[in-house]
Amino acid sequence: MEDHLYPNNFRISGSRRRHRLKQNPKLIWFTGLSGSGKSTLANTIESNLFEKGYLTYLLDGDNIRGGLNKDLGFSVQDRIENIRRIAEVSKLMMDAGLIVVAAFISPFRNERAKIADLVGKDNFLEVFVDCPIEVCEQRDVKGLYKKARAGIIKNFTGIDSPYEAPLNPVAHVHSDKEELEDSIQKVLGVILPKLNLT
Ligand code: PPS
Repeated sequence: MEDHLYPNNFRISGSRRRHRLKQNPKLIWFTGLSGSGKSTLANTIESNLFEKGYLTYLLDGDNIRGGLNKDLGFSVQDRIENIRRIAEVSKLMMDAGLIVVAAFISPFRNERAKIADLVGKDNFLEVFVDCPIEVCEQRDVKGLYKKARAGIIKNFTGIDSPYEAPLNPVAHVHSDKEELEDSIQKVLGVILPKLNLT
C-alpha cells in the first residue's frame, strides 16, 4: 500500500517550529507496572515543566485507551499496536515542537526500542518507575490486581502477562522507597539540561 503514497513536503519545518517555541522537543517516557506511580510522576513532571515555561503535552494509558485506542485490549498484539500508535502521535507532537510526557506500562523492551528508533534515540528519554509487584498489588488503587487474581481480568501485567524492565533508562525511580519529591528531582536533573535549544 505504501508504494502508492507520495508524502507532501511541508513549507513549515519542525526546525522552524522548534525555534519559535525555543525548546528542544523530547519524549519523556515513563514505563512501569500498573500502580507503580507512573501517572503521578508524569503528571507532576509535566506541570513542573509547563510552569517553567515549556510547552508540553501529557499522554497517559487510561486516557488514550478511552479515545484513540478504544478499539484495543490487552493481548500482546493489542499492546504492541497501542504503543505503536502512541509513538506515532508522540512523533507528530514533537514535530509540532512540543515536549511530550508519556505514561504507559509499555511492557515490551522491543517495542520501547522501536519508539526510540521512530523519534530518534537521543530524543527518547526513558524513565523506569520501579516498584515491586507486591507493593503495587498491596496499593491496588483501582482494584485491578484483585480482579486479575480472581480471574475476572485476563492478561494482567505482572500476573499473567509479562513486564520487561528497561536495561538502560535515563532515570530509574524506586517509587516504593523514595519520596515523590526525590524522584521528581532525579528525573528533572536528567531531562532539564536536554530541553533548551543550543
Ligand atoms: S500497555 O501495556 O502499555 O498497552 O498498557 P497501557 O496503555 O499503559 O494501559 C494500562 C492501564 O490499563 C488498565 N488495565 C490494565 N493494565 C494492565 N493489564 C491489564 N490487563 C489491564 N486492564 C486494564 C490499568 O488501569 C492501567 O493503568 P495504570 O495507570 O498502568 O494502572
